[in-house]
Amino acid sequence: MLELKSLKKSYHQGSQTIRIFEDLNFHVQEGERVAIMGKSGSGKSTFLSLISGIIKPDAGDITLNTVSYKELKESQLNDFRAMNIGFIFQNFHLVSYLNALENVMLPAKVCKVSKPKEKAIKLLERVGLGHRLDHLPSELSGGEKQRVAIARALIHNPKIILADEPSGNLDDQTGNSVMDSLFELIKQNHTTLILVTHSKEVAARCEKTYELVQGNLKLC
Ligand SMILES: Nc1ncnc2c1ncn2[C@@H]1O[C@H](COP(=O)(O)OP(=O)(O)OP(=O)(O)O)[C@@H](O)[C@H]1O
Ligand SMILES: [Mg+2]
Repeated sequence: MLELKSLKKSYHQGSQTIRIFEDLNFHVQEGERVAIMGKSGSGKSTFLSLISGIIKPDAGDITLNTVSYKELKESQLNDFRAMNIGFIFQNFHLVSYLNALENVMLPAKVCKVSKPKEKAIKLLERVGLGHRLDHLPSELSGGEKQRVAIARALIHNPKIILADEPSGNLDDQTGNSVMDSLFELIKQNHTTLILVTHSKEVAARCEKTYELVQGNLKLC
């Protein structure tokens, strides 16, 4: 479903070259839930950014649902990302002047989701926020913000969810209950998940856990 072939990626900072991946190969099957662990700076966020197409590899290719990123023009890749990928970030990335409902509805327009309002309300109810629809992000707790972000990531039924330390900013109990919401929703939709986490407990919810070490993903 998702395949990374011979990926190479370095960053250039002045005269310095930071080599992240030299020859990375990886694949995920449809509906599979995969955790990625690894030390800070090992390249986990870079890995997700490559899969999302936000950053380009220096060499190699990524294929999602038989579509090769190499074959897509920039605008096509942007549309492809919007339609097929959902994101959840450590610091939520909600739009501060939109309320919970409006935040969740945000991707619906671009992705031409039918009955977006009904769907957004349903998702917010599913994550336990039916009573917080008109709250701005500043009027929500951290766990609630992350639930809004989860609902937003799923409104267009993406093929794959990329989550970068989604419970990293939450206390254990809140993090666990936010993870319960995420796993329940993706299980129902058969959504593929790639989850970056520093928590072994969170990783244990996934079928497979990989550790990113020196540019390679090792199955734990
Ligand atoms: N745009 C950039 N330009 C230069 N160097 C970068 C850039 N982005 C990341 N790096 C460097 O690449 C390395 C990998 O960064 P990345 O953010 O992928 O790590 P990470 O595994 O997600 O770390 P963390 O667990 O702290 O989030 C780091 O050493 C970082 O400093
Ligand atoms: Mg990171």
